[in-house]
Amino acid sequence: MGAAYKIHEHTFDMIVVGAGGAGLRATFGLAQKGLKTACITKVFPTRSHTVAAQGGVAAALANMGEDDWRYHFFDTVKGSDWLGDQDAIEYMCREAIPAIIELEHQGVPFSRTDDGRIYQRPFGGMTTRFGEGPPAQRTCAAADRTGHAILHTLYQQSLAHDAQFFIEYFALDLIMDAHGACRGVLALDLSTGELHLFKAQGTVLATGGYGRAYFSATSAHTCTGDGGGMVLRAGLALQDMEFVQFHPTGIYGAGCLITEGVRGEGGILRNADGERFMERYAPSVKDLAPRDMVSRSMTMEIREGRGVGEHKDHILLDLTHLGPEVIHEKLPGIAESARIFANVDVEKEPIPVIPTVHYNMGGIPTNYHGEVVQLRGGDPDAVVPGLYAIGEAACVSVHGANRLGSNSLLDLVVFGRAVANRCAETVTPNGKAATLAGDALDGALSRLDTLRNANGGTPTAVIRDKMQRTMQADAAVFRTGETLAEGVAKMREIHASFADVKVTDRSLVWNSDLVETYELANLLDQALATIVSAENRTESRGAHAREDYPERDDSGWLKHTLCWVDPAGQTTIDYRPVHMHTLTSDVDVIPPKKRVY
Ligand code: FUM
Repeated sequence: MGAAYKIHEHTFDMIVVGAGGAGLRATFGLAQKGLKTACITKVFPTRSHTVAAQGGVAAALANMGEDDWRYHFFDTVKGSDWLGDQDAIEYMCREAIPAIIELEHQGVPFSRTDDGRIYQRPFGGMTTRFGEGPPAQRTCAAADRTGHAILHTLYQQSLAHDAQFFIEYFALDLIMDAHGACRGVLALDLSTGELHLFKAQGTVLATGGYGRAYFSATSAHTCTGDGGGMVLRAGLALQDMEFVQFHPTGIYGAGCLITEGVRGEGGILRNADGERFMERYAPSVKDLAPRDMVSRSMTMEIREGRGVGEHKDHILLDLTHLGPEVIHEKLPGIAESARIFANVDVEKEPIPVIPTVHYNMGGIPTNYHGEVVQLRGGDPDAVVPGLYAIGEAACVSVHGANRLGSNSLLDLVVFGRAVANRCAETVTPNGKAATLAGDALDGALSRLDTLRNANGGTPTAVIRDKMQRTMQADAAVFRTGETLAEGVAKMREIHASFADVKVTDRSLVWNSDLVETYELANLLDQALATIVSAENRTESRGAHAREDYPERDDSGWLKHTLCWVDPAGQTTIDYRPVHMHTLTSDVDVIPPKKRVY
C-alpha cells in the first residue's frame, strides 16, 4: 500500500448510510429503540433526493371514498407484473396506514380535505375492488411537494432522538469479515479528507438508486447507487437490475420530474393531433395507467410519427383545463418547474414531456425486515449477517417489474421502520462490535490509494458520459436482443476503460474529482449488471419490454434475476424464486393473469 492513512475509529450498535426518507426513518427508529446509532451521509440530510418526490405517498386511508389495504395489495402485485414478493407487498400495504398516521402525528403538513382529513389523489394503477371498481384516491399529498414535507419532518424527528450524524462523509467500502458478515464501513470525511472506520453490529444501506447511470434522469446527480456498488465489491449479488422505471413525464430536454399527480388531478397526455391517445392503450384508466404502460404508449406515438415539436420527438401534457385554483393549490411546484425549465405557463400551454429514467426497481435483495439476503448453499433467502438495505437501494421486492407511483415514499417509511423494529429484536444495545482482522481494511485502503493516484488518460467525466449515452440508447423503454447485445459489448468496453481513469486532484480535502470517480465506479458496475440482466431476460414483464419477446413468460421467467459483477467486470447470473405466498390469511395470493387496465 502507498500512503499510510490516519483512521478515526468509532463503535456504534448500528450505522445507517444515507439520510433520505428511508435512512432518516431507520436512524431515529433505531435510536428510539435504545440502539446507539450513527447516520453517515454524503449530503446534508435535507438535500437527499427524497426532497424531490412530488405527488405523494400511497395508503388506503379511504379519506376520499371507498378503499381497503387489500385493494392496494392487489394493485401492487398486478402493477409489479407478478414479480413482486407477495409477503413483502402484504406487509407494506397493511403497514401503510399506521405509517401515514405516524407521519401525520410527526408533523408532515399534508394537504387537507374540507373536513380536515389528509387529502388523497388518484395515481396510476391504483384501483378499488381488486381492479373491478373505480380508481382509488389513495395517494396522500402535501400539494406537489410531498417528499420535501416528509424529508424535513423526518429530519426534525431524527434531531429529537439521540442519533449521531456524520454529514458530508462519503462511504467508501463495506468492511466484511472472513465469514461473510458485515462489520461496518470505511468513510471519508469530505471536508477534512480524514478516514473514519465505523464498526457496528449492523450496517443499513439507505443509499438510494443509481439513476445517474443514464443520460436523462429525474434523479439528482447524487443518485449514484453507492450502496449497490459497495455490495457488488463485497462479492454479493444485486437483484432484478433489468427493471428500470421510465417516468412518463420528465420535462423534454431538462429531465426534471412533472408529477403523475398532474394526471391524478385531471391532466391529459396529447399527441401531435391533439388526441388523448391513452384512451386507445388503456381504455378504462386512460392517462392513469401504470407508468410502464404510459411510457410505452408515448414511445409508440412518437415512433408512429405523432410526436410533437420540430423533431416530432416528444408529447404534450395538457393541464390548461384544470384552472388556476387547482394549479395554485395542488400543483404549485410543477407550475414553477414548467416555467423555469420549459418556459411554459401551465395555465395557458401544455408542458413538453418525454419518458425519463426515474426509479430502479432492482437493487440489494432483502426480506421484508430489511435484512440483505443472498442465494447460499441452495438457500435463496440466506441472510447476510450484519447487513441491511432499505429504500430505493434495496429490492425487497415490493415493486417487482414495475413500481406504482407513490409506493416509493411508502416503501421508504415502512421499511425504514421495519429495519428498526427488527434490529430492536436482534441487536444488543451497547453491545460489543466484533474485533476486526488485521487486514480487514487492506482492500478498501488499497483501492483508495489506486483511485486517488489514478493517472491514466481518460477523465472520469468522459467515461461517465459514454456510460450514460450507452445506457440511454441501448437499455431504453423498448429493448431488442440486438440493441442489448450491442449495449452489453459497449458497456463491457466502457467498464474496462475505468482502468485508464485519470484523477487530477491528489489531495483528500473536498476532492470532488475523487468522489465522482468513486461514484462512477459504483455506477459502472450497476450499469453493467442492468444491461447484462436485460439481455439475459428473454421475455417482456413490467418495465422490461423486449420487442423480440413481447409476451410475459411465467413458465420460464417468474423468478428474480441475481447478478454478480467482479472487479474485472465479469458478470454471473443466477435466480431466486418469487415469493408467491402471503404473510397471513387476511389476503389471498394473487395468481398471475393477463395485465390489462
Ligand atoms: O410522479 C410523481 O410524483 C412521482 C412519484 C413516485 O415516483 O412515486
